[in-house]
Amino acid sequence: MPLERVDSVRRRCRAEALARGANPRDVDVLMADLAGKSVAYVVAHGELEIDPAPLQALLERRHAGEPLQYIRRRADFYGREFYVDDRVLIPRPETELLVETAVKLAPDRAQVIDIGSGSGAIAVSVKLERPDLDVTAADASMAALAVTALNCRRLGAAIGLAASDLLSAIDGRFDLILSNPPYIPAREVEELQVEVREHEPHMALTPGEQGTEILERILLQAPARLSPGGRVILEIGFGQEERVRAIAASHVFTVDDIIADLAGIPRTVVLSKHG
Ligand SMILES: C[S@@+](CC[C@H](N)C(=O)[O-])C[C@H]1O[C@@H](n2cnc3c(N)ncnc32)[C@H](O)[C@@H]1O
Repeated sequence: MPLERVDSVRRRCRAEALARGANPRDVDVLMADLAGKSVAYVVAHGELEIDPAPLQALLERRHAGEPLQYIRRRADFYGREFYVDDRVLIPRPETELLVETAVKLAPDRAQVIDIGSGSGAIAVSVKLERPDLDVTAADASMAALAVTALNCRRLGAAIGLAASDLLSAIDGRFDLILSNPPYIPAREVEELQVEVREHEPHMALTPGEQGTEILERILLQAPARLSPGGRVILEIGFGQEERVRAIAASHVFTVDDIIADLAGIPRTVVLSKHG
């Protein structure tokens, strides 16, 4: 393909993105990635010439609904860049609240497990923020666990890895049991954006009809696996607060705190055993 000026490629692709309901900034980000430069550099150097074909190929994927993070193979979380692909959920900003809460509440040199580690966003961030902690990351998906392992290596987090259905294949007791479990009711998956419903792993999204099935199983297994004074910290979905309080009460747990995210949605639940 003939070379074309950056400013004219950018103008054309941004207009097309807008017309197709996409964010024109995705054009700038992908152009910058291909050039190996910052967005600011690309915007300031409209006079340079590029072959537009590689950019157009990436934009076709984006317009077909593939999330930008999968195309770029990276997502920002808690101030770090994680490798992501379609084996794992793209870490969400609201999950940073769970990390912040765990970092604050973990006793010195505590034993911590993250159930459903996916990209490793929670387990890796907690370990890097609190190197004194002994952190294990567990996932039932071997494919997801491979991504957790990759991010441990890339970001230099020394944590244990375990393939396990929740805690069933894991020994020992924990001071903190963390999880951002799949929590979307199955019938709602079809209503999600195409980026989510057709690209993110189904088992990372929904545990079944209620949305709280995995959370309930965690609370069923946790009492026998918590050290004295130990706590469970879970992320919950929109509108699940009352249901989670009821499940907690029937599984010997006290809800110590429910923290709202920046949108005011109750999001992070801290629980401890009665008595
Ligand atoms: C919502 S994603 C969370 C990923 C990551 N922790 C985060 O916050 O970005 C849920 C994760 O739980 C895992 N998962 C689903 N069912 C599981 C089970 N029964 N046991 C262990 N992990 C499970 C999925 O593979 C997925 O990686």
